[in-house]
This record gives sequence, C-alpha cells and structure tokens, in this order.
Amino acid sequence: MEKKDLIQKLNWFYFLEKNQVELYTAQSQQVEDLYIKKALQRVAAVEQGHVENIARKIRKLGGTPSAIGEKIAPLTGSTAGYITGQAGLIALLEANIKLEEKAMKDYKDFLLRVGKDEELFNILWDHLIDEDLHTAWFANKLAELKAQNAQLKR
Ligand SMILES: [Fe+2]
Ligand SMILES: [Fe+2]
Repeated sequence: MEKKDLIQKLNWFYFLEKNQVELYTAQSQQVEDLYIKKALQRVAAVEQGHVENIARKIRKLGGTPSAIGEKIAPLTGSTAGYITGQAGLIALLEANIKLEEKAMKDYKDFLLRVGKDEELFNILWDHLIDEDLHTAWFANKLAELKAQNAQLKR
C-alpha cells in the first residue's frame, strides 16, 4: 500500500476508535448496573489506547490524525437518557456487538493489505484481538440478560 493510502486508511480507524471511546464513555455514564458500568469504562480505556496507537503511527508516517467521516448515528455517544431496563441494556449490547464486529472486519481486511510494515501489523493484530475480547464479553453479558429475561417471563 502507498503511504498516502495507508495514512488515509489509518485515519478511518482513528475515527472509528474515537467513536468507540465516546460511545462507551457515554454508555458507562448512562448505565446503572455497576458491573456493566465498570466494564464499559474499562473497554473505553482500551479503545483510548487504540486511538493513541493509531495516532502515533499516523504521525510516524508523516500524517496528521484527523477524525474524518460521518458519525455512526445510533452507535455514537449521542443517545441521551438513562439506560435502566433490561430491554435497554439488551439493545445497547446488541449495538455494541455490531460495532465491534464492524471494527474486527475492517482490521482483518486491513491486515491482509498492509504488507511488510511489521509495527503496523502488530498494532492491527493487537486491536483486532482486543475487539474480539470486547465482543465476547458483550455477547456473554447479552446471553446472561436474555436468560434472566426468559426466567422472568416464566
Ligand atoms: Fe478499538
Ligand atoms: Fe472494542
């Protein structure tokens, strides 16, 4: 990949990761359940690390990190109000899983195209695995809530 394309692509991830930080931070403030709140704060901190890794790499390549692109509307931190009920939590987790899966797909696609830049290769792998772990946690919590829901309905 040409340097220019590389920087452009990295800026896409910079945008995506910044969105994730914003989203999970907002969610952590909206959720009442303490365990989920703490998990979201922790995930947001990991996403912040991703933002910084990507920004560093962009600068190293001679570019400037810039969050280009449209915000992913229902998935950004703009959703107002408290999320208390189980239905709200389920919707939140489902949206997060979708976003993480999108990030994973983009990281995988990018990994196949980066070529010989070992540093970049390692960054992308680290992020991909982190997103996979986030997805697993969200999916696990989602299954738990759904099981509780089914119990309540009995
Ligand atoms: Fe991330
Ligand atoms: Fe993530």
